[in-house]
Amino acid sequence: MAIERTFSIVKPDAVAKNVIGEIYTRFERAGLKIIASKMIHMSKEQAEGFYAEHKERPFFGALVEFMTSGPVMVQVLEGENAIAANREIMGATNPQEALRGTIRADYAVSVDENAAHGSDAPESAAREIAYFFSDEEICPRTR
Ligand code: PPS
Repeated sequence: MAIERTFSIVKPDAVAKNVIGEIYTRFERAGLKIIASKMIHMSKEQAEGFYAEHKERPFFGALVEFMTSGPVMVQVLEGENAIAANREIMGATNPQEALRGTIRADYAVSVDENAAHGSDAPESAAREIAYFFSDEEICPRTR
């Protein structure tokens, strides 16, 4: 199994619900290690840049407004098949379609405020990690 890194966000709705720790516990229980983490309040420019691939989609403005509406936790997760593992823990983008016991099923109510983000491929994971973290901020585990 490949050891991978993925990028994750605990979105403003989940931070406001005070469930950062509960979400981090789910990462850890699944064997994912948090190797970088910080709380930020994204600027409009930062959010627009992060979601640039969606800029033609009708919900782009709402997405940027939501992601800048309050602080978020950004983190790098490392583990076996971390990208797929994190997406499984998060559940479907639309919480109504998310499997029971997933982050989005438990903490989100709608597709526009869906508690968590996770990279969908190795290329996006690398780009997204570099968008928010310098190499010095990432602390690979030695044990
Ligand atoms: S996916 O899984 O990334 O392909 O999902 P996708 O449907 O392409 O959605 C991309 C991101 O846009 C968010 N989204 C929305 N925001 C606001 N309003 C509506 N209607 C909406 N639909 C989708 C969705 O949560 C994805 O955000 P991230 O942060 O990538 O999970």
